[in-house]
Amino acid sequence: MSIVYDRQENLLTLTTENTGYQMCIDELGILRHLHYGSRTGAQDMSYQIIDFDYAFSGNPIQYRRERNFSLDILPQEYTSFGVGDFRLNSVAVINADGSRAAQFHYVSHEIRKGKYAIPELPASYDNGDEAETLIVTLRDEVTGLTVKLHYGVFEKLDIITRYAEICNDGKAPVTLEKAASLCLDLPHGNWDLMHFWGKHAMERQPERQPIGHCITTVGSTRGTSSHQQNPFIIVCDHEATEDHGDCYGMMLAYSGGFKAELENSQINSVRAVMGIDDTYFSWKLEPGQSFHTPEVILSFADGLTALSHNYHHFIRHNVCRGKHHLEKRPVLINNWEATYFDLNEDKMYALAKEAAALGIDQFVLDDGWFGARYDDNAGLGDWFVNYDKLPNGLDSLIEKINGLGMKFGIWVEPEMVNEDSDLYRAHPDWALSAPDRTPTFGRNQLVLDMSNKDVVDYLYGCLSTLLKEHNIAYIKWDFNRSVCDVYSHALPADRQGEVSHRFVLGLYNLLDRLTTEFPDVLFEGCSGGGGRFDAGMLYYTPQIWLSDDTDAIERLIIQGGTSYGYPVSTMGAHVSAAPNHQTGRTTPINTRGIVAMSGAFGYELDLTKLPESDKEAIRIQIQRYHQDEVLIHQGSYYRLTDVTKGYYTAWQIVSEDKSKSLVNLVITSPQPNPEPLHIRFKGLDPNANYHIEESDKVISGAALMNGGYTYPVMHGDYPAMQLHLSVRS
Ligand code: GLA
Repeated sequence: MSIVYDRQENLLTLTTENTGYQMCIDELGILRHLHYGSRTGAQDMSYQIIDFDYAFSGNPIQYRRERNFSLDILPQEYTSFGVGDFRLNSVAVINADGSRAAQFHYVSHEIRKGKYAIPELPASYDNGDEAETLIVTLRDEVTGLTVKLHYGVFEKLDIITRYAEICNDGKAPVTLEKAASLCLDLPHGNWDLMHFWGKHAMERQPERQPIGHCITTVGSTRGTSSHQQNPFIIVCDHEATEDHGDCYGMMLAYSGGFKAELENSQINSVRAVMGIDDTYFSWKLEPGQSFHTPEVILSFADGLTALSHNYHHFIRHNVCRGKHHLEKRPVLINNWEATYFDLNEDKMYALAKEAAALGIDQFVLDDGWFGARYDDNAGLGDWFVNYDKLPNGLDSLIEKINGLGMKFGIWVEPEMVNEDSDLYRAHPDWALSAPDRTPTFGRNQLVLDMSNKDVVDYLYGCLSTLLKEHNIAYIKWDFNRSVCDVYSHALPADRQGEVSHRFVLGLYNLLDRLTTEFPDVLFEGCSGGGGRFDAGMLYYTPQIWLSDDTDAIERLIIQGGTSYGYPVSTMGAHVSAAPNHQTGRTTPINTRGIVAMSGAFGYELDLTKLPESDKEAIRIQIQRYHQDEVLIHQGSYYRLTDVTKGYYTAWQIVSEDKSKSLVNLVITSPQPNPEPLHIRFKGLDPNANYHIEESDKVISGAALMNGGYTYPVMHGDYPAMQLHLSVRS
């Protein structure tokens, strides 16, 4: 049993293989947080909270306590608001009488088998007997506002999930101005924050900094989880390394704006609060109505690598769903960087023919096939074939491609509209725009109002028709701008603060209907590359185009940064042209292949223009990838170097039974007179002997991990090397 209630001490203890989480209900009914970290068993951890005089900080008189009681220093599970805890709050309300306060006390709790689901939102799932759920109910006695804190405990996986259901059980409406998914008071210590910042074509750059005595915020106000920040943060001990040290992961399964805040308080204790972005948020709850926050996925581990492994397994097995999430993915050719908008049937067929001859499984027709889409000024919203470019229609092209033995995939950007489109001309009020203001354009496009059910139903009609009428095996679902002018013409003035979240619910509703109705179709997420790379999207789309930057050297940081929280199977990665279109850099085809293979692999360049030597290299890459893909996607991933430092980057993948391993190395900044390049491998069986295919040497696992491996000198432009290890008996 992973959830235990100690009736005598009023303790609730959640236990996983290596971690423990404890809370208690104190004599005042406050749900105190006692512990999250390595296992501490059934021990009552409340001995850690000591009394001291905090009268100057606020000691609420209603508790009739002495000077040594203050909510302001008490670790709590979900904090009250406006009543004496001055740190980051979990919830903010405006009551019907205009007061801004809520004080939550324990009412009851319930332990259930299995994992909870969340209405209208993605939530991780249990594959049978993996999880238990704890629901703790708290209530504000004055207004009747009730909070049901949900905890999902995945014992074997070292994962605990949380979300809050906020119900108005009172008699008057209440407006929520903030509704966090998580409040976590961390133990005393010296903590660093790791977050993943970026911009378009430069996503998820890892950055680590000490948490100072101030509020640090990581978030997005862009309506998407964003290129600029990711809804995944790590709080780790200042001394923590890849291999050791206390590391907490907090990942929000949400694709809209979010906020993760950290406050190191006056008594040196850090509180983390994470949830929907509250900057423009408000949500009116009539009596009897409930609000559900998105889910936070928590993990604690010894070292960053172990933390990443917990998330990799969990995302693959308990977040991504459907027919494709654990299956081999097709190697694809995408026409975007080959032709951009300049596509037609002959060109596409020529590209597909070349791809088929090289062993590629699937052709993806990117932007430009529909409406008046000759550039990015027009066409979005009109999901009907452009007969000027494809005079014989989609089916003719699809049949020809299928005839080559390849599957066919297609690009869409459903949530967007161009002013120059039939859709906008018919329904200008379907675009988000504030009354009497000229809306802001991004990539010449406006954002559709996904909070409006009519819009979602219309898109469902277009996309389901597309999928029903054509033999389409794959959808690339794009979203190419940030959201502003957040105003819905379908909602009254006092509900406009709800639009951002309702937008995300509309998106999830559409994805849910389509993925349920078309289970055979593989959906890939995308948002100008990786601007919506999050566990919410991964619930519907088991892979996401990682970045519009396809430069192999830049990709090492983007893929490496993403790997802290997400497995390689989720990262769309393609070999593109040299010189690279984003950076102008030329890298060898071998290096480009090795980098892209650590992902959902494909090609995105004009194959018809390649020299025979590159085509031969691609043929070999694809064969190699097929030999290695199970290892790559199912193995344990190790970062052997810090992707932000040094003149080379190395990473390793080890099969579950440790019988095979792949070690990849890329020289990112070639050196004159290089010193010997020496790396210690990880995750191997110390007692086994490994044959290294490329050097034909046999070396023990212990030697490779403790002594290391010395590479031959590698000269030239960005050379790369793969080593294939297999156990020799
Ligand atoms: C975005 C995507 C690209 C491509 C273009 C098409 O930038 O990330 O891969 O699909 O849109 O307009």
